[in-house]
This record gives sequence, structure tokens and C-alpha cells, in this order.
Amino acid sequence: MALAFFVRVSRLLMVMILLQGVCVMFYYTRNTHSSRDGMTDTLQQMQCAKLRRKFSIIKPAKSIKMESFTRELSDFMSCPYKSNTTEREVNRLKLQFFCNATGSLFLTKRNTAVNQTIPYETSKIKTYTVNAAIHSMMPEDFPWSGRRLGRCAVVGSGGILKNSSCGREIDSADFVIRFNLATINDSDVGLKTDLITINPSQIRFNTLVERVSVYENASVAIPAFAYTFCTGKAITALKILHPIRPQQPVVFFSPIYLRTLDRLWKGRGLKSVRLSSGFLLINTALELCEDVHVYGFWPFGTDLQDNPIPYHYYDQLRPHPYMHKMPEEFVRLLQLHSQGALTLHLQPCSSETH
Ligand SMILES: *[C@@H]1O[C@H](CO)[C@@H](O)[C@H](O)[C@H]1NC(C)=O
Ligand SMILES: *[C@@H]1O[C@H](CO)[C@@H](O)[C@H](O)[C@H]1NC(C)=O
Ligand SMILES: *[C@@H]1O[C@H](CO)[C@@H](O)[C@H](O)[C@H]1NC(C)=O
Ligand SMILES: *[C@@H]1O[C@H](CO)[C@@H](O)[C@H](O)[C@H]1NC(C)=O
Ligand SMILES: *[C@@H]1O[C@H](CO)[C@@H](O)[C@H](O)[C@H]1NC(C)=O
Ligand SMILES: *[C@@H]1O[C@H](CO)[C@@H](O)[C@H](O)[C@H]1NC(C)=O
Repeated sequence: MALAFFVRVSRLLMVMILLQGVCVMFYYTRNTHSSRDGMTDTLQQMQCAKLRRKFSIIKPAKSIKMESFTRELSDFMSCPYKSNTTEREVNRLKLQFFCNATGSLFLTKRNTAVNQTIPYETSKIKTYTVNAAIHSMMPEDFPWSGRRLGRCAVVGSGGILKNSSCGREIDSADFVIRFNLATINDSDVGLKTDLITINPSQIRFNTLVERVSVYENASVAIPAFAYTFCTGKAITALKILHPIRPQQPVVFFSPIYLRTLDRLWKGRGLKSVRLSSGFLLINTALELCEDVHVYGFWPFGTDLQDNPIPYHYYDQLRPHPYMHKMPEEFVRLLQLHSQGALTLHLQPCSSETH
């Protein structure tokens, strides 16, 4: 009897203790929940600041541990983006002062005289003399002088854009730059194009008009004075397009601009032999645009989640053999992103963002 009573009381006590324990536990978890969130936030902010510092001074390396690099970069890309207005203005002023895209990115009637000799980018001896007929087909002035371009999207051809759903975001930019007659479509890369480049080696005269008209009113830029073999093809392309596509000005990059930009970056320690057209026009955008967004620049054979990706978004080419080195230009883009000077997009775009 007494034993049974004792058992019953102790059971009751145990239930009470248990219940209390549950309450206490519940109380504790509820109470610490927000402070733990706060702690996670603080830890995350510290981690983001650490990664931001690290990537803003990252150095090119002969070989990198791809796995830890992409893990850290993926973490960093999930951190809130921090724009730096000072950094942007300093870059803009330097580029304006040294290179002046408005005055000298393209050859125009304004900056080029009849019979003027044009040097070649890659030769100290060879020059080209602009005759009156070619001169008459040059644009009067830089197509976008006198206004600051707003949000610009510079769209490289990297396989990282495949299945990215970035088309809408890219199309919502004020100004879109693309390269090498890259294919366009609404899902991954968008359709809007304001400037498209052609590599002279891509020029096929019989399909040129058709291929170029895909980009509607976009200006067509050709590096006509990179190498001597480029010039003839570029001039023929100009002669074909000038009468048929008056809404699409054909422009030639000025070797002077390319040289000064090259010198500027060599002065900052960039060692590549010749700047890529992608890197070149990102610099132009840093000078002319309010806000620069860079897509499709990713020189590796796997994405941030370690999935294999093709070399270009529009073909199935195997990754380039150089893809396991850390290319110098990409390092600079990563630095500029981390410093808040431009926004590098390396992840798929979410459907709501603009
Ligand atoms: C912005 O950049 C400038 C110049 O590089 C630097 O001094 C400053 O600390 C940066 N500001 C922030 C908030 O990071
Ligand atoms: C750039 O060139 C344009 C056109 O020639 C000129 O009006 C402008 O003053 C130049 N800007 C600088 C910073 O030299
Ligand atoms: C350009 O050179 C051609 C041939 O030498 C000459 O006939 C022409 O007058 C020159 N034009 C100008 C504007 O100097
Ligand atoms: C292209 O230019 C033509 C004539 O300049 C204009 O009528 C048309 O609206 C433009 N198209 C686009 C997509 O801007
Ligand atoms: C893109 O999506 C297609 C269809 O879902 C898939 O077969 C393909 O592997 C994906 N490609 C890349 C590079 O993610
Ligand atoms: C858009 O382009 C990508 C890459 O070339 C391709 O995978 C995708 O199927 C295309 N989508 C449409 C709707 O054409």
C-alpha cells in the first residue's frame, strides 16, 4: 500500500519534473533561438568580411586547389554584395584620364583624318592609311558620347551561363555588350544587345548580313587593326554592312585605346600578352557605365557546385587546356568585384531579381 502510494507519488513527481524540464528546455530554446540567429549572423558577417578581404587581394597562381577555391568563392558569392562608390569613381577617373573611351575607343570622323596612318596593335612597323572612302563610312562621333550609361551588362561566352536563367536579368540592363557573334536567347543570356564584337576570323561574307541582323540595332565592333590579316576582312565587312544595315554602325577599335589600356594594366602588374576583348570592354564599361554587371566570365571547366560545364554556353567544346591555371584577367575581375567596383555573376539568376 505504502509502496504503491510512494510509486504513484514518485511517478507524479517524475512527470512534473519531466514536464518542467520540457518547459525549461522549451523556454531555453525559445529564448536562445534569436540570440543564436544573431550569433550566426555575426559569424556570417565576419566570414564574409574575411572572404571579401581575401578575394580583393587574391594573386594569380600557377595552380590552384579548385575544390577549396570554388567552395570559398561559392560562400563569398552568397554574401551580400557591397558596392563602393569611391572605388568606382577612382577607377572611372583613372580610365577617363589614361584611356578616354569616349574620345578614342573607336575610330571616328572626329578623331581620325583622311589619309591618317593607323598603327597596328601588335606591330611597331606596319601602319594603315585611311583613305577618303573608308573615312566617309566611319561614324561622325562616338555613338554614346555625352551621356553616362546606366546599368550595363557585359556578357561573356562562358559555359557557366548555360542553364543560368539569366536572360531576363541581362535584358533588364540599360546597355548590353556581347562578344564574337555569340548566340542570344531569352532564357539564359537574353536578347538585348547594344554592342556586339566580331572577331575577323569569324567573318564569312555570304552570311554576314544575316548573322549581324540578329542583334537588331546593335553597333558592330571589329578589331580591324589588331593584326594585319584583320584589316582587309574588316574593311570588306564595313563595305557590305554600311549600305544595307544603316541602323547598325560598324566601328573599328582604335589601336591607340588598346595600347593605353594595355599599358595601364601592365603598370598594375597584369602579365597577359594581349588583353582579351572581354576584359577590354569591361574596362570601357567601368568608365562609361554607372553600374557594371559581368556575366559569363568564368575560365574553369566546372561551375561553383563542381558540375562540369562546356567552354562556351553555345557549344560543346571541351574546356580549354589553360583552364586549370588561374588566368590573370579573371583574378583582376574577382578583385574588382570584392572591392565593390563591379558585380561578377557566377551563379544562376533567380527569377525574381532584376
Ligand atoms: C571603398 O574604397 C576606398 C578606396 O579603395 C577605401 O578606402 C574604403 O575603405 C572603401 N570603403 C568601404 C566601405 O569598404
Ligand atoms: C575625351 O575625349 C573627348 C572627345 O575627344 C573630349 O571631349 C574629352 O575632354 C576627353 N576627356 C578627357 C578626360 O580627356
Ligand atoms: C589624301 O591622299 C591622296 C593621295 O595621296 C590625295 O590625293 C588627297 O588629296 C589626300 N587628301 C587629303 C584630305 O589630304
Ligand atoms: C532600330 O532602329 C530603327 C530605325 O532607326 C527604329 O525604328 C527601331 O525602333 C529600332 N529598333 C529597336 C529594337 O530599337
Ligand atoms: C542544362 O540543362 C539540361 C536539361 O535540363 C541538361 O541536360 C544539361 O546537362 C544542363 N547543362 C549544364 C551545363 O548544366
Ligand atoms: C538558350 O541557349 C542555351 C545555350 O545555348 C540553350 O541551352 C537553350 O536550350 C536555349 N534556349 C532556348 C529557349 O533557345
